[in-house]
Amino acid sequence: MNDNAVKATPMNYNADRPPASNPVKIMDLSLRDGHQSLFATRGRTEDMIPVAEMMDEVGFWALETWGGATFDTMHRFLNEDPWERLRVLKRYIKKTPFSMLLRAQNLVGYRNYADDVATAFVERTADNGMDIFRTFDSLNDYRNFETVVRQIKKSGKHFQGCICYTMTEPRLGGDVYTLDYYIAKAKELEAMGADSICIKDMAGLIAPYDAYTLVKALKEAVKPPIHLHSHFTSGMAPMSQLKAVEAGVDILDTCLTPYAYRTSHPAIEPLVMTLLGTNRDTGFDIHKLAAINEVLEKQVLPKYKHLLDDSKVSIIDINVLLHQTPGGMLSNLVNQLREMDALDRLGDVFKELPRVRKELGQIPLVTPTSQIVGVQTVNNVLHDTPDERYKMITAQVKDLCYGLYGKTAVPIDAELQKKALKGYPRGETPITCRPAEVLEPELEKAKKEVGSLAANAEDLLTYAQFPVTGRKFLEWKYGIAEPPESVKPTTLDFVKKQEALVKKAKAGELVERKATEDAPPKSERLRAFNVFVDGEYFNVEVDPTGGALPSAPQPTAPTVRAQAAPVAPAPAAPAVAAPAVADAVEGNRLLAPMPGMIIAYKKKVGDPVTKGEALVILEAMKMENALTAASDGVVKSIAFKQGDTVPKGATLCVY
Ligand code: CO
Repeated sequence: MNDNAVKATPMNYNADRPPASNPVKIMDLSLRDGHQSLFATRGRTEDMIPVAEMMDEVGFWALETWGGATFDTMHRFLNEDPWERLRVLKRYIKKTPFSMLLRAQNLVGYRNYADDVATAFVERTADNGMDIFRTFDSLNDYRNFETVVRQIKKSGKHFQGCICYTMTEPRLGGDVYTLDYYIAKAKELEAMGADSICIKDMAGLIAPYDAYTLVKALKEAVKPPIHLHSHFTSGMAPMSQLKAVEAGVDILDTCLTPYAYRTSHPAIEPLVMTLLGTNRDTGFDIHKLAAINEVLEKQVLPKYKHLLDDSKVSIIDINVLLHQTPGGMLSNLVNQLREMDALDRLGDVFKELPRVRKELGQIPLVTPTSQIVGVQTVNNVLHDTPDERYKMITAQVKDLCYGLYGKTAVPIDAELQKKALKGYPRGETPITCRPAEVLEPELEKAKKEVGSLAANAEDLLTYAQFPVTGRKFLEWKYGIAEPPESVKPTTLDFVKKQEALVKKAKAGELVERKATEDAPPKSERLRAFNVFVDGEYFNVEVDPTGGALPSAPQPTAPTVRAQAAPVAPAPAAPAVAAPAVADAVEGNRLLAPMPGMIIAYKKKVGDPVTKGEALVILEAMKMENALTAASDGVVKSIAFKQGDTVPKGATLCVY
């Protein structure tokens, strides 16, 4: 009989049941990937504290508490210091190790950072309490692991190496991502000193029998424990987990029920009962889990449930099965198209996407490559003409073509590569070395730029990775600027009042009141919101009377259906209206082709520009787009400043 066969014996629930001979170890993801997947990473530290000590008592192998999108979202949208969360949670969770998702040389940002930033980031993270560094590279190019792994080991921490699971066919196979590919990758990780190896199925693509085949092959090929990370998105993950258990998987990822399913992960409770009394029994006390769920349901989740994407009844996204597109990427594409009034082009996007992916070297689709491929695909669909493809190439695609992300699974299309690298500042010949080798040290430069605003090494690392939003956050943190209403937390009390109002509205107890003659005249600052309540639509106009917008109704109030997307940049602040000066000036207008945030103006008023030169760098969907001059001229007027959020069609400058 196979060693890994699951053997069951009659067993009761009791927590004092005899331990299994080979228990499946469990990592809980509720505090990171769980709320990242379901609630756009908006979970606040204050809402983790009520269950922190209870979670420490369950017996999890680890709790994932940090990394991925948490760092970005916290400082950008929640006005919370990510470093502080780590230290606070560590005070409540003393026994269970912490795990973080580290994007290798991309750290917790979206590009490769220089070695000095990468080393300092890992060193500070370890020092602030991180135990397990789940490390992945979006291209599975492990040269991008070298610097961070050196520091993880030096700090005496656990290095978990990931293999991003991706495919080009509906099942394991094809000509790139074969079983041999994964075995070779696992051996590379073992040789690098991996303490465990994770199959990172970020899109929920792994089919149960492929999970069995893969886990079994990896268990035979390498020594480190095998860990399976899979998203529920397609509906296959619980079955894949069970087949992985049968194949001898060591560690599985789950969430507590309120954070489970949809685009998140399988729940822990059904797995505990499934394995109860077997030789792979988790040993967990189901009553302890139930008690945690009770607190979450009553005290925490009412504040977040408006973020759940309930636009559909189904909790499974069969598009993943049809298109092998990660769920998060799909919702980003939909949001991006919606913002550009082009939702009707989704079919074209599905057709263009595999083509772009193939031309870019058949890369896995995971942050940041899913964004790179997704945004470029939308650009192609919206801006290309019948005689020219890739009319608007993002800066990130240019970097990828240069080799700055690493080596792609198959070579990038030569024609595209040549076009992308025309006039590329680092040179027109792509590199083949470890990408960070061409990056100049960045820490000293960042230190000079941010000056005394960064009070410590952690502040500096926040700024080094997020120069624009990081600076804004540090200004809020140290009281130099007032944080906007949109970053302030909501309260359970506020949510209850909102719910009562919705209930009244549904019961028809709210009557429409006509504006009376004593109503004050509407001012220029009047803002209109579309509010949707269970299919009903209200147009609400808000006219601020004081210095700031009133706290309610606010655009993030629970009655407003937010577009929940794991990494979609939900507007942090209302788009700034274009100053009148730009409208009055005669000349060529550079319009924002999409909503976004101004990263930089490349020219000052009075500077000459030549056709094709970059005028503005606009960040949209986390990708930087260089907007270029359509003709020669002289810059006459600049309408915004760095960090401003602009709507589609805004005049950015006149030249
Ligand atoms: Co994940």
